[in-house]
Amino acid sequence: MPKKSIPPEIEWHIKFDKIVSEREAIYIDALIRMASRHLNTELNSILDAPCGNGRLHEFLRNYGYDVYGIDINEELIEQARISSSDHADSYFVGDLRNFDLNKKFDAYLSWYNSLGYFDEKGNIAVLNNAAKHLKKNGIIILDIPNKELALEYISNNPKPIFYNDCGKYVAIEHGGIEFVDKICYRIRDEKFYEKVGNDLVFLKAHPVNKIRLYSEEELIKQLSKSGFRHLYSFSGKTFADLNKSAKQMIIVAAKK
Ligand SMILES: C[S@@+](CC[C@H](N)C(=O)[O-])C[C@H]1O[C@@H](n2cnc3c(N)ncnc32)[C@H](O)[C@@H]1O
Repeated sequence: MPKKSIPPEIEWHIKFDKIVSEREAIYIDALIRMASRHLNTELNSILDAPCGNGRLHEFLRNYGYDVYGIDINEELIEQARISSSDHADSYFVGDLRNFDLNKKFDAYLSWYNSLGYFDEKGNIAVLNNAAKHLKKNGIIILDIPNKELALEYISNNPKPIFYNDCGKYVAIEHGGIEFVDKICYRIRDEKFYEKVGNDLVFLKAHPVNKIRLYSEEELIKQLSKSGFRHLYSFSGKTFADLNKSAKQMIIVAAKK
């Protein structure tokens, strides 16, 4: 049977460094245990939304969690089901804004720049839907870019270009920042090229998209409106207080 070719926008998920995923899972486990002690409650089930191909799940299951995943991309969910065949029925295809699993979890994981894909109404719907899927004192963990640093970066590099080697393909992204009604969006204009010898051959363009960037204050305010109370803010994947020069913000909040 001919091998199904993997589209470039999926390839990075599959090629993601396992050691990095393992480290991230260890960090997520530590965050959950920290919140669990603080809240004096057991946190056992995790909904990873969006989960991509479920790259963190083998590790999180080994640490004892009951893990579920949802993503809009059917191919990624298929990959997740294949690599977690004993848990195939823990995976769902759905939209972050409106999926309804009719079940509440102990933790909602929004990992690796997975918030801010929509207009303001849509982004609020994602956080409201996360709250709807959590038990009281369940937690949300967010790993997102730090607006402060992005703004500083863009003031020094007004037309940034990012190269991402995805193995068989290269993604070249022209970046930028746009403000709409005082809300800050990162512009992503990404094109995929196939490596052919020493050349890059244009393959396809990703539709240009905008990702809402949050400051810590903006996110905490919205989390509160969506039914959460803030617990922790850390500089990306550490337990150090969040500071302005952190690339990523880790925010943890509990469902009221
Ligand atoms: C940056 S990836 C992160 C995936 C995963 N959290 C990880 O750490 O690998 C973002 C994911 O969001 C998914 N996605 C994009 N729009 C979505 C939507 N409307 N609803 C659900 N998932 C969506 C994409 O398919 C992709 O897998």
